[in-house]
Amino acid sequence: MNEAFNTLEFKNDELLLIDQRLLPSKFEIFVAKTYKDIEFAIRDMVVRGAPAIGATAAYGVYFAYKEFAKNEVEFIKACDFINNARPTAINLKWAIDRMLKVYHENKKSDNIKEILKKEAILIQEEDITTNKMIGENGLSVVPQNATILTHCNAGALATAGWGTALGVIKSAFYANKNIFVYADETRPRQQGARLTAWELTQAKIPSKLIADSVAATLIRDGKIDLVVLGADRIATNGDVCNKIGTFSLSVICKQYGVPFYSAAPLSTIDFTIDDGSQIPIEERDKDEVRFVGETQVAPLDMDVYNPAFDVTPHQNVTAIITEKGVIYPPFKENIAKLKKQFID
Ligand code: MRU
Repeated sequence: MNEAFNTLEFKNDELLLIDQRLLPSKFEIFVAKTYKDIEFAIRDMVVRGAPAIGATAAYGVYFAYKEFAKNEVEFIKACDFINNARPTAINLKWAIDRMLKVYHENKKSDNIKEILKKEAILIQEEDITTNKMIGENGLSVVPQNATILTHCNAGALATAGWGTALGVIKSAFYANKNIFVYADETRPRQQGARLTAWELTQAKIPSKLIADSVAATLIRDGKIDLVVLGADRIATNGDVCNKIGTFSLSVICKQYGVPFYSAAPLSTIDFTIDDGSQIPIEERDKDEVRFVGETQVAPLDMDVYNPAFDVTPHQNVTAIITEKGVIYPPFKENIAKLKKQFID
């Protein structure tokens, strides 16, 4: 089973992105032709979600090379420019570093442009395979007849395809686990209402949309069997950084003994940091809170604090579902083992 849409599609040397700022009321394609288009698409959230940002950035490096083939200084500057588009999701840096490694290894080759293009395509393709494996591995934590709660959008739209957390949900649905899903609206940008709800209805997965504040009551009342959501960056001690509101959900789950899972590829683990306090948290425009869509919902002169992400301490995380298996505590030891086995 695959989606009927491509979050990103590379065609005729252009990157076609579903413009996620407009869903679900409009389905339009944003065409990126230059590295500046790519930086804009990531910064303005035409494309969002950690793995999708990474895959998009990889094409940005290819576009940057096309523009500055004869000027390495400008090429590296352009890559840094893309890297600074958003600060929190580590997949952005991961993808750019991978592309630059390939560049440095092959820059003397006459074929370097093609090599970079191929690597970007490979990053995109691998992400889909990775997500399917996350989905498969996640089946072990989803019981039959489970009611699952998710937050933000960690679906096909947040990746090159299938999704991480929503990938687990889709895999469970297609494995006939008879699941039911509650999707948090996810204020302020409403990725749950606009994007996860759109994906759930497309896939015809039984589900309901809830305002974020409803989740606590459902969890307390024993209506939720597990929570599964994505991650933008995971520290080596298992602290999980994800969309704002994730931390409070984890606290409620811990209070009522509901399993709390993060589903993410290894590319979302930042092996350079010890814990979540070292993760930069993006603060976005104040108008995201003062407005819902075009409608003003707060006085324009009211100051706003709008962090886009929060960090869930590893003590609140039941397990992390990756393409290489489900990681349980102790996270520090088990993440280190995984690194030794698959990364080093
Ligand atoms: O601000 P966004 O929409 O880019 O935030 C996305 C999330 O927080 C997702 O949960 C996360 O990136 C995982 S996506 C598979």
